[in-house]
Amino acid sequence: MSTFQTYDHIDALDTESQHLIHKAKEALQKAYAPYSKFHVGAAVLLEDGSVVSGSNQENAAYPSCMCAERVALYAVAALHPGAVITKMAVVARKKSGKDLIPATPCGPCRQVMLEFESRQQQPLTVVMQAAEHQWVVAPSAESLLPYCFTKDNLHSEH
Ligand code: THU
Repeated sequence: MSTFQTYDHIDALDTESQHLIHKAKEALQKAYAPYSKFHVGAAVLLEDGSVVSGSNQENAAYPSCMCAERVALYAVAALHPGAVITKMAVVARKKSGKDLIPATPCGPCRQVMLEFESRQQQPLTVVMQAAEHQWVVAPSAESLLPYCFTKDNLHSEH
Protein backbone atom coordinates (compact mmCIF):
# COMPACT_ATOMS: atom_id res chain seq x y z
CA MET A 1 0.00 0.00 0.00
CA SER A 2 1.30 3.43 -0.91
CA THR A 3 0.76 4.84 2.59
CA PHE A 4 3.75 2.91 3.92
CA GLN A 5 7.19 4.40 3.44
CA THR A 6 9.97 1.86 3.08
CA TYR A 7 13.72 2.28 3.50
CA ASP A 8 16.43 -0.21 2.70
CA HIS A 9 18.76 1.00 5.45
CA ILE A 10 18.29 2.36 8.93
CA ASP A 11 20.48 5.38 8.04
CA ALA A 12 17.90 6.41 5.42
CA LEU A 13 15.32 7.13 8.13
CA ASP A 14 14.90 10.60 9.64
CA THR A 15 16.97 11.32 12.75
CA GLU A 16 13.94 11.25 15.07
CA SER A 17 13.07 7.72 13.95
CA GLN A 18 16.67 6.63 14.25
CA HIS A 19 16.80 7.99 17.79
CA LEU A 20 13.62 6.14 18.68
CA ILE A 21 15.03 2.91 17.24
CA HIS A 22 18.11 3.46 19.39
CA LYS A 23 15.85 3.83 22.46
CA ALA A 24 13.95 0.67 21.48
CA LYS A 25 17.26 -1.18 21.20
CA GLU A 26 18.17 -0.06 24.71
CA ALA A 27 14.78 -1.26 25.96
CA LEU A 28 15.25 -4.62 24.25
CA GLN A 29 18.12 -5.32 26.61
CA LYS A 30 15.60 -5.42 29.47
CA ALA A 31 13.44 -8.09 27.84
CA TYR A 32 12.55 -11.07 29.99
CA ALA A 33 12.13 -13.77 27.38
CA PRO A 34 13.54 -17.06 28.71
CA TYR A 35 10.91 -19.10 26.84
CA SER A 36 10.89 -17.67 23.32
CA LYS A 37 14.40 -16.19 23.50
CA PHE A 38 12.94 -13.53 21.20
CA HIS A 39 13.77 -10.12 22.63
CA VAL A 40 11.61 -7.16 21.65
CA GLY A 41 11.97 -3.48 22.51
CA ALA A 42 9.53 -0.64 21.92
CA ALA A 43 10.04 3.09 22.36
CA VAL A 44 7.14 5.54 22.36
CA LEU A 45 7.68 9.22 21.59
CA LEU A 46 5.37 11.73 23.28
CA GLU A 47 4.46 15.14 21.95
CA ASP A 48 6.63 16.83 24.59
CA GLY A 49 9.67 14.93 23.31
CA SER A 50 9.93 12.42 26.12
CA VAL A 51 10.31 8.73 25.40
CA VAL A 52 8.70 5.83 27.27
CA SER A 53 10.01 2.38 26.48
CA GLY A 54 9.11 -1.22 27.13
CA SER A 55 10.30 -4.75 26.49
CA ASN A 56 8.54 -8.09 26.30
CA GLN A 57 7.91 -9.79 29.62
CA GLU A 58 7.27 -13.52 29.58
CA ASN A 59 5.78 -15.95 32.05
CA ALA A 60 5.87 -19.71 32.61
CA ALA A 61 2.12 -19.52 32.06
CA TYR A 62 2.54 -18.49 28.42
CA PRO A 63 -0.72 -16.54 27.93
CA SER A 64 0.43 -14.20 30.70
CA CYS A 65 3.30 -12.92 28.52
CA MET A 66 3.13 -9.30 27.47
CA CYS A 67 4.55 -7.77 24.29
CA ALA A 68 7.01 -4.90 24.38
CA GLU A 69 4.62 -2.56 22.55
CA ARG A 70 1.85 -2.97 25.08
CA VAL A 71 4.24 -2.71 28.04
CA ALA A 72 5.36 0.66 26.65
CA LEU A 73 1.92 1.92 25.66
CA TYR A 74 0.28 1.03 28.95
CA ALA A 75 3.20 2.62 30.80
CA VAL A 76 2.44 5.84 28.91
CA ALA A 77 -1.20 5.69 30.00
CA ALA A 78 -0.26 4.92 33.60
CA LEU A 79 2.57 7.41 33.96
CA HIS A 80 1.52 10.23 31.62
CA PRO A 81 -2.26 10.20 31.40
CA GLY A 82 -3.50 12.37 28.56
CA ALA A 83 -0.11 12.50 26.83
CA VAL A 84 -0.20 12.47 23.04
CA ILE A 85 1.88 9.81 21.30
CA THR A 86 3.41 10.90 18.01
CA LYS A 87 5.54 7.92 17.05
CA MET A 88 6.74 4.53 18.20
CA ALA A 89 9.51 2.19 17.14
CA VAL A 90 9.71 -1.58 17.55
CA VAL A 91 12.84 -3.72 17.26
CA ALA A 92 13.75 -7.34 17.97
CA ARG A 93 16.69 -9.68 18.15
CA LYS A 94 17.21 -13.29 19.10
CA LYS A 95 18.87 -13.84 22.45
CA SER A 96 21.73 -15.62 20.68
CA GLY A 97 22.21 -12.97 17.98
CA LYS A 98 23.60 -9.47 17.98
CA ASP A 99 21.82 -8.05 14.94
CA LEU A 100 18.26 -6.78 14.80
CA ILE A 101 15.75 -9.00 13.06
CA PRO A 102 12.32 -8.18 11.58
CA ALA A 103 9.64 -7.47 14.17
CA THR A 104 6.26 -6.26 13.10
CA PRO A 105 3.67 -5.74 15.85
CA CYS A 106 1.22 -8.56 16.51
CA GLY A 107 -2.52 -8.10 16.02
CA PRO A 108 -3.42 -7.38 19.66
CA CYS A 109 -0.65 -4.73 19.86
CA ARG A 110 -1.99 -3.08 16.70
CA GLN A 111 -5.43 -3.04 18.28
CA VAL A 112 -4.05 -1.39 21.42
CA MET A 113 -2.19 1.19 19.30
CA LEU A 114 -5.49 1.91 17.59
CA GLU A 115 -7.20 2.53 20.92
CA PHE A 116 -4.52 5.08 21.82
CA GLU A 117 -4.92 6.72 18.43
CA SER A 118 -8.66 6.88 18.90
CA ARG A 119 -8.30 8.34 22.42
CA GLN A 120 -5.93 11.08 21.31
CA GLN A 121 -7.71 11.68 18.00
CA GLN A 122 -4.35 11.96 16.33
CA PRO A 123 -2.45 9.34 14.35
CA LEU A 124 0.69 7.76 15.72
CA THR A 125 3.47 6.74 13.36
CA VAL A 126 4.89 3.24 13.69
CA VAL A 127 8.51 2.52 12.73
CA MET A 128 9.46 -1.13 12.36
CA GLN A 129 11.75 -3.52 10.58
CA ALA A 130 9.51 -5.56 8.29
CA ALA A 131 12.20 -7.68 6.61
CA GLU A 132 15.94 -7.89 6.29
CA HIS A 133 17.10 -4.53 4.87
CA GLN A 134 13.58 -3.15 4.98
CA TRP A 135 12.43 -0.55 7.47
CA VAL A 136 8.82 0.53 7.24
CA VAL A 137 7.12 3.66 8.53
CA ALA A 138 3.37 3.25 8.87
CA PRO A 139 1.54 6.60 9.09
CA SER A 140 -0.96 5.40 11.71
CA ALA A 141 -2.19 2.44 13.72
CA GLU A 142 -5.29 2.43 11.56
CA SER A 143 -3.17 1.84 8.46
CA LEU A 144 -1.99 -1.39 10.10
CA LEU A 145 -5.55 -2.55 10.76
CA PRO A 146 -7.86 -2.15 7.77
CA TYR A 147 -11.56 -2.55 8.57
CA CYS A 148 -10.74 -2.28 12.26
CA PHE A 149 -13.03 -2.53 15.27
CA THR A 150 -13.29 0.64 17.35
CA LYS A 151 -15.67 2.29 19.80
CA ASP A 152 -17.62 3.49 16.77
CA ASN A 153 -18.72 -0.11 16.19
CA LEU A 154 -20.01 -0.30 19.76
CA HIS A 155 -21.95 2.92 19.37
CA SER A 156 -23.39 2.13 15.97
CA GLU A 157 -27.13 2.82 15.78
CA HIS A 158 -27.89 -0.15 13.55
N1 THU B 1 6.36 -10.10 21.04
C1 THU B 1 6.40 -8.76 21.25
O1 THU B 1 6.95 -8.29 22.26
N2 THU B 1 5.80 -7.96 20.34
C2 THU B 1 5.16 -8.39 19.22
O2 THU B 1 4.56 -7.59 18.51
C3 THU B 1 5.20 -9.80 18.87
C4 THU B 1 5.76 -10.72 19.88
C5 THU B 1 6.97 -10.98 22.04
C6 THU B 1 5.97 -11.80 22.80
C7 THU B 1 6.82 -12.97 23.24
O3 THU B 1 7.48 -12.62 24.44
C8 THU B 1 7.84 -13.11 22.14
O4 THU B 1 7.84 -11.90 21.43
C9 THU B 1 7.57 -14.26 21.18
O5 THU B 1 6.29 -14.19 20.66
